[in-house]
Amino acid sequence: MPESPAIKTLDLSRSFGSTIALDRLNITVERGEIFGFLGHNGAGKTTTIRLLNGVLLPSSGSCEVLELDPTSHGPLLRARTGVLTETPALDDRLTAYEVLHMQGELFNMPREQLPDRIEELLTSFDLLGRSRDRIGGYSRGMKQRLALARALITDPQVLFLDEPTAGLDPVASRLVHDMILALAADAGRTVFMTTHNMGEAARLCSRVAVLESGHLVAMGSPAKLTARMQTQGNVTIEVDPAQVGDAVGALSDEFDHRVVGGGVLSVEVTAREDIPRIASGLVEAGVRVYRIDSEEPTLEDFYLSIHRGGRMQ
Ligand SMILES: Nc1ncnc2c1ncn2[C@@H]1O[C@H](COP(=O)(O)OP(=O)(O)OP(=O)(O)O)[C@@H](O)[C@H]1O
Ligand SMILES: [Mg+2]
Repeated sequence: MPESPAIKTLDLSRSFGSTIALDRLNITVERGEIFGFLGHNGAGKTTTIRLLNGVLLPSSGSCEVLELDPTSHGPLLRARTGVLTETPALDDRLTAYEVLHMQGELFNMPREQLPDRIEELLTSFDLLGRSRDRIGGYSRGMKQRLALARALITDPQVLFLDEPTAGLDPVASRLVHDMILALAADAGRTVFMTTHNMGEAARLCSRVAVLESGHLVAMGSPAKLTARMQTQGNVTIEVDPAQVGDAVGALSDEFDHRVVGGGVLSVEVTAREDIPRIASGLVEAGVRVYRIDSEEPTLEDFYLSIHRGGRMQ
């Protein structure tokens, strides 16, 4: 029997007064996936996470996490899931050790397991040296890493991360990325994350969904979404500088081109298939080609292309 999905929503909707924050969302996230939830400010990402955690009630529709309805099975689900909220609340007067200890106690973790688990998390998040200092003296990145460690204390099966790397430096971001990848690779844990960083989504996520003003407007793997886009733009070609004339002859009238210098040419393409045609034309003309660089569309290009109309609100 196939395993039940980690997350499933059915026409999940939520309004605040006349604002429709989420409109009939239908998504299924399989176990072991890292699922990215993308969209402009105010698109409804945090609202969705709050609905999936039972913090908000749906206006209509429903959702399931680990086959449980978050609105009626809150305590059970909270013990099996972890959440990093958009603005994690941490008491400045406590130490990192105390925060993790309190969280472990809150979820009834066996007391004898707690010290080892806490040390493991403090080590992975590079906080061990400061774990007995008050949080009031932590940097923003340290607080974010502590909040992540707190979300992981129970070793949850599903982890919700609302902008996990917002405000983190590149080293700390990489630490968080590696942690997310390791988590999903290990025993099929599921990560549902929001981010405004398209590079991060492309690197981490098996699939992404794009929300626009509460509506789902695209969903798929980053590779499939970007493959749908036509390659348009310039291809940079480097040939033997002594053969630039031959190269220009081979490109002839078919492709608009410009000689940049030093054996480098810039050629305009309108479709992905133009690239192999250019390559074979050059080779047939006996031109030695050292480099062909085409700018592949990125997830950011895709995101910007579907938001071409600008902000909806
Ligand atoms: N408690 C609330 N009361 C009133 N309106 C709300 C509430 N929570 C969210 N909204 C509205 O719902 C819409 C979606 O907000 P949400 O916080 O889910 O967006 P988001 O995609 O997380 O944005 P961001 O990228 O800025 O975090 C917005 O129009 C917001 O103003
Ligand atoms: Mg948000």
